[in-house]
Amino acid sequence: MTDFDKIIDRKGTNAYKLDLRKRSFGTDDVIPLWVADMDFAAPEAVQKAIQQRAAHEVYGYTIRTEPFAQSITNWMLYKHNWVINPDWVEFSPGVVPALVMSVLAFSNPGDAVIIQTPVYPPFYAVVADNERELLKNSLLEKDGRYEINFQELEEMASRPQTKIFILCNPHNPVGRVWTEQELLRIHDICLRHNVLVLADEIHSDLTLFGNKHIPFASLNSDAAANSIVFMAPSKTFNIAGFSTSYVITSNNELLKAYRKKMHALQMHMGHVFTGIIVETAYNEGREWLDELITYLEENIRFVKNFIQENLKGVKLIEPEATYLLWLDFKAWGMDQKELRRFLIEEAKVGLNDGVSFGQEGIGFMRLNVASPKSVLEKALKQIAQARI
Ligand SMILES: Cc1ncc(COP(=O)(O)O)c(C=O)c1O
Repeated sequence: MTDFDKIIDRKGTNAYKLDLRKRSFGTDDVIPLWVADMDFAAPEAVQKAIQQRAAHEVYGYTIRTEPFAQSITNWMLYKHNWVINPDWVEFSPGVVPALVMSVLAFSNPGDAVIIQTPVYPPFYAVVADNERELLKNSLLEKDGRYEINFQELEEMASRPQTKIFILCNPHNPVGRVWTEQELLRIHDICLRHNVLVLADEIHSDLTLFGNKHIPFASLNSDAAANSIVFMAPSKTFNIAGFSTSYVITSNNELLKAYRKKMHALQMHMGHVFTGIIVETAYNEGREWLDELITYLEENIRFVKNFIQENLKGVKLIEPEATYLLWLDFKAWGMDQKELRRFLIEEAKVGLNDGVSFGQEGIGFMRLNVASPKSVLEKALKQIAQARI
């Protein structure tokens, strides 16, 4: 059994979550519950494989061999009941870089790209920093659950300049796992308007409370032909520092164009641990992941109870996936600046500001629960105490 309660000191590791506190919050003394990585040790098998390779003293250029795509193929079947062919898989040095490469490969400057806001902030940059027009299809909150505004999506997709739709499934930060019915409606709209679907499914292994993830390309053969799926073991196994992910598409034309762009940008090499971490995590990480999900669910229940009892008015959007909780503080009546100041200076906790995900995030904060329960408890108590 993995001891997820264990406190691991990350000081001295140049951890983004710790060492950028001063720059992000203006102080080092907040409990960091922001950046989307976990404070847990990676699976022991992964640690051992890395250590074993590191013990060899030559670190030259390294290729990925058949077991790389094969381990991904096996994982898709095991985890998502999705039968894929190893030939559909290609490496990428991160999901965000892969999204950039795809936006460059499949649209031109001036074309439009749809995203569903509030959303993971780099989605804005992937589009706007590459001179594409950003179309924000705002999600609608209904009784604490987010839904898609299909009417607006249809209108945006129908514009002649719209070429790409970037799906976030499961969705960060609103925690939705889109249903088959919702995905089919997205697919129908995108197909009719000739809009390519880029499906960021990096959080797909982290579904909670019995929710099931459906890979977009597994919907049907038309959806497979009109999409690229982006996944990684990075969130799942807490190995994001290795910048390793991959894309999957059965559409050979799309794969060829993706590869062409990746080579044009010289992003194809990867590093010495790329193959090792993917293969080991997927081949030997099943049990660890099951234990992790149980621990995360318990943390989420704990946070929910704590909020109900001690943080009256705060509304938790029930997550269907991810370790990121979307918290609505609007009932406290603070403006965003005051809410941020209160949490940083009085409660001394470092959360992600809701507004960084888009204007829809006004009044919200994102809380990362992938920490030992005792750390979460301390942070929540500090908020409750400061509120008195
Ligand atoms: C939806 C989503 N996509 C991509 C990423 C990051 O991917 P990568 O580090 O592989 O670029 C994150 C990280 O939080 C994310 O939430």
